[in-house]
Amino acid sequence: TVAECRRCRLCETRRNTVFGEGDTRARLMFFGEGPGADEDMQGRPFVGRAGELLTRMINAMQFQRSEVYIANTVKCRPPGNRNPEPDETEACRAYARRQIELLSPKVIVVLGAVPFRFLFPNVYGGIRSQRGKWMEYRGIRVMPTYHPAYLLRTPEAKADVWKDLQEVMAVFGR
Ligand code: URA
Ligand code: SF4
Repeated sequence: TVAECRRCRLCETRRNTVFGEGDTRARLMFFGEGPGADEDMQGRPFVGRAGELLTRMINAMQFQRSEVYIANTVKCRPPGNRNPEPDETEACRAYARRQIELLSPKVIVVLGAVPFRFLFPNVYGGIRSQRGKWMEYRGIRVMPTYHPAYLLRTPEAKADVWKDLQEVMAVFGR
């Protein structure tokens, strides 16, 4: 359904849809913003520079990339890597909602402001004030943290993210 979707304007400029990938029985899910140029080219999430860092973060948590599930708020690349517009995230909402429902993971790690606002539209405060605080989305535990692309620009923030990831590791006894 996603591969043929034309519900928003992002379908006009995408090369490939990026549905998500990983173990469909995964208990740990990472939820990002949307495909960039590399992801659009390959049809896979988090395969560029931010993706390399995400893979290192997953490995530091003592997981393999193949053991977790990785998906994004929007399934098509916003041109020029701009943020997705609210009408685009709304057009795409049913896919991520159903994807999360079908996977039904134990924990979702939310990567950055866009997916945070998407899952928690009514929460006061942004990612800067809410990161590191456990939340709940439809009965699933959620840990909001910074996006790996932000960490590439702001390495000082890595210590905060590592704290957040250690909280998640503790849930899995790692
Ligand atoms: N950034 C994201 O949010 N998602 C990707 O898949 C790649 C980069
Ligand atoms: Fe459809 Fe989502 Fe792609 Fe928009 S971003 S065309 S809603 S799959």
